[in-house]
Amino acid sequence: MAIFKPAIVANWKANKTQEQALSWIEKVGSFLEEKSGEIILCPPFILISPLRERLRALGFSDFIHLGAQNISHYECGPYTGEVTAEQLSGLVEYSLIGHSERRRLFGEKEKDIVQKINLAKKWQIKPILLVDLPQVNEVSLYADQEMLVCYEPISAISTPGDYRPDNPEDASRAAKEILARNSKAVVLYGGSVNQANAQSFLKVGFSGFVVGQASLGEDDFIGLLTASFT
Ligand code: PGA
Repeated sequence: MAIFKPAIVANWKANKTQEQALSWIEKVGSFLEEKSGEIILCPPFILISPLRERLRALGFSDFIHLGAQNISHYECGPYTGEVTAEQLSGLVEYSLIGHSERRRLFGEKEKDIVQKINLAKKWQIKPILLVDLPQVNEVSLYADQEMLVCYEPISAISTPGDYRPDNPEDASRAAKEILARNSKAVVLYGGSVNQANAQSFLKVGFSGFVVGQASLGEDDFIGLLTASFT
């Protein structure tokens, strides 16, 4: 599918105040502008609108694309705390779907993920499906559809201050499993990506990354972008 490469997705998870978020986009946006680079930024829901406004004001919205970290599997209605694809439509271009933290901590099942992907597509939001090996078969449900799929082994997700990436060769075998089920998937890698290991995953054929911890600090993230763009 037509996507800039490397496709680097910053997944802030439940981090950053509005003030911190606005200062991050100024610094990272200036760097991207100079390098003609693009990224997808997935902030917490509450920060999407203020970031969108500021990105437009700074002239950065063509290259800092916004994504949600999740969407509801409900269309709309009495579902306290949920945010729907329709509400996000027009505010974000992408949404992470099926992150292992959603599956493990919030009980998301394959049937929920199918509904989320259907609703995302209905509302013109491009899904970024995240799978570990046990979920690789979910990719078959979208055989021959252009879609971003991120291979993210749970064991490789960082903990504060600790990076433990997968071995690039093992990860590339998983990427082949994904492509065997959907030859049109654009396959990303996630799990402890940082500036020291980014190139090793691009070299084995990944089209980009989903980055958690190393996307939080501006300098760490710019370091990662520098390592990935060269
Ligand atoms: P990490 O997180 O880069 O901190 O390992 C990635 C993710 O969970 O999406």
